[in-house]
This record gives sequence, structure tokens and C-alpha cells, in this order.
Amino acid sequence: MAKIKNIELKNFRNFNNFKTSFDHKLNILFGDNGCGKTNILEGISLIAKGRGIRNSNLFNLIKKNEENFFINNNLEIQKNNFDINIYTEKKDNKFKKIISVNDDLSKESLDFLNESISYLIFLPEMERLFQASPSYRRNFIDRLIFSSKNDYNRLINKYKKSLTERIKILQTNKLDTDWLNNIEREICSFGLDIYNSRISQIKHINNELNTLKKDHQFQFDVELKIKDEFYKNKISFEDYLKNLKDFRSYDKQYGGTKFGPHRSDIISIINNDIEASLLSTGQQKTVVLMILLAQCNYLVNFKNINPILLFDEIGSHLDNNNRQLLLDMINKFDIQFFLTGTDKNLFSFVSTNAQFYNITEL
Ligand SMILES: Nc1ncnc2c1ncn2[C@@H]1O[C@H](COP(=O)(O)OP(=O)(O)OP(=O)(O)O)[C@@H](O)[C@H]1O
Ligand SMILES: [Mg+2]
Repeated sequence: MAKIKNIELKNFRNFNNFKTSFDHKLNILFGDNGCGKTNILEGISLIAKGRGIRNSNLFNLIKKNEENFFINNNLEIQKNNFDINIYTEKKDNKFKKIISVNDDLSKESLDFLNESISYLIFLPEMERLFQASPSYRRNFIDRLIFSSKNDYNRLINKYKKSLTERIKILQTNKLDTDWLNNIEREICSFGLDIYNSRISQIKHINNELNTLKKDHQFQFDVELKIKDEFYKNKISFEDYLKNLKDFRSYDKQYGGTKFGPHRSDIISIINNDIEASLLSTGQQKTVVLMILLAQCNYLVNFKNINPILLFDEIGSHLDNNNRQLLLDMINKFDIQFFLTGTDKNLFSFVSTNAQFYNITEL
């Protein structure tokens, strides 16, 4: 699996030219607010498909008043070194993200890269995961699925596109029934795939949490569940299709699709009793860290994937429980960690051989 050996960021966010190498498994980036810690994690996250940890548009990634950004890094994949370039190209006033592997732009090289790299991400706003909107929680689960299924985001995009197309057809005056039937069949097929992927992802996390309970002192039991008005235990393709047909006029008026995985919520039940949204902020962070630990265990032990962990602002508000969870992760897995915080001292509890980077001074 992939390990990042070094990185160079040119005209990327606040950096003109930032260059550093990573020799340790535990890399701690610290420095004042605004020095560029999150930007470095974002640069690293762009090696994978997509728009990175902040889901930003490409224009905002380019340093102000510059034309394009350029990121170079060296990846070690199964003991071999690969030179990866990521950069923008502007065509017809639109930016495109280009990735090359050893100067090769072929689809095979990109597929190889995507199969070799996987991230688990913690962002400070995840402390509010259970207070945020359902769409944030769906994205959270979808990112976890993406960490072992790198074509999953394509499924989500295809599903969203079909939903939009169906509403467009419904809202035209002359209804093309054949076209509509086709699109609805597509929606059912993509939608069921998404439901199934999320259900199996949640099952894996719940299983792993149960297994981990034996060796870890968790503060409480956590069980994830999908909350969905439409999808109860199972739904057949035919029932799904019928439901879409039945709701055509409703959906036309409402301008959206009433049922489907885009309406699901993911809830966490604590000690078989209350929802995680009722916990304190710090305890909610614990739940998120427990889920990430469970997912990491699942990836490493069942999928043979060694993810790279990008944990932004993880240093702040760590009580003993959350410190222990983080330490458990660091000690348990031989994977690469990138942790950030404003102060080096926030990480004094880490006893493992860590490399510290003062980003303010670099
Ligand atoms: N396209 C851009 N061009 C120039 N500067 C940018 C661009 N995008 C973001 N910045 C600047 O990058 C700086 C660093 O941002 P970043 O979010 O990485 O800081 P940070 O070290 O993570 O800070 P914090 O500790 O507050 O999270 C900010 O001051 C921001 O204004
Ligand atoms: Mg930051």
C-alpha cells in the first residue's frame, strides 16, 4: 500500500513553494492558525480521485494571482517508488485536474494509483457530525465506503444525475414515457446499490466495534443505524420502481425525489439508549474516533488496505478517552499518520517516534 515519501506544493493555496519529506509513520504538522496545515493535508488528499478533503473547486486551490498549481510527490507502493504529479490545466475557461504517474497519463496508471491509495479523514467539523444535517452524515459514510471502493463516488454521481434528469423529464410538457421508464430503472439500480453499500458499511463498523470492545476500554457502546422512511429491511427492484411511478406527480410538483438513499440519515445509538446527538461535543468526537478506528481495523484486516490517516486539528480538545483512542490507532496499525494542531505540546502524549514539522517556520 501507499506511503508518501515527500511532497512539493507549488502555487498551491498559501504556498509558493513548499517542500518536505516524510520518513516516519507518524507525522505531526503544527503551527499558528493560517500557516497552511490544512492546506498540506488537502494537497496530500488530492493524490486520490476527487476534489480533496475540503471538496473545494480547483480555482480556489490555486494560489491567488497564479495560473495553475503543481503538486509533486513520491509515493512508495509495495516497496516501489512512483513519481506523482498533480496539476491544473485551464481549457475553455475551465480548470481540470491532471494526474500523472511516472509521467504516464494513461487510464491504467491512474487506476493503479487509485487502487493503491486510500484515506481516512478527520476534520474538525466532524466533532459536530451528529448535529449537522443528514447530508453531512451521508457524506461521512460515503467517504468511508470510498476508502475501500474507489469507484463508489461514480455511483453516487450517476445516481444524482439520474434523479435530476427524471425531474427534468417530469417537468417538461410533453412526457417521454419510454425515456422516463428507463431513467427510473436506472435510479432503482443505482439507488439499491447505494442502500446496499451503506448498509454493509454500517454492518462492518458495528461488527468491528464489537470486536474491538474486547481489547479496548470504550467509554460507551455505539451502534450505527440507517434511518430511512422508505427503505425498511429490504426493498425489491419492482417495489422501488412502483414507488417512483406512484410519486411522479408529487415529485414533479415538489421538484425533487421524495424517496431514495439521498434522503437517508445515519444515526448512532449510544448504550442502546440515546442518540449520539445528545452527547457532549467531546463525547461526539469520541464516537467519530471510534468509528474511524473501527473502519481502519476493517480496512487493514479484511480488505488488505493500509489507509493513510489525515486527521486535521486532532490535537485540540483531547480528553484522556480521545487521547487513548488516538494512541490505540497509532500503536495498532503500521500505517502513515498525518496529524495537525496549533501547538507541538498538544501532542506530548504521543510516545512513539514521531516527526514534528513546524509549518510556521518552514
Ligand atoms: N488560493 C489561495 N491563495 C492564497 N492563499 C490562500 C488560498 N486559499 C487559502 N489561502 C490561505 O491559506 C492560509 C492557510 O490556511 P489553512 O487552512 O491551511 O491554515 P491552518 O494552518 O490549517 O490554520 P488553522 O490552524 O486555523 O486551521 C489561510 O490564511 C488562507 O487565507
Ligand atoms: Mg486548519
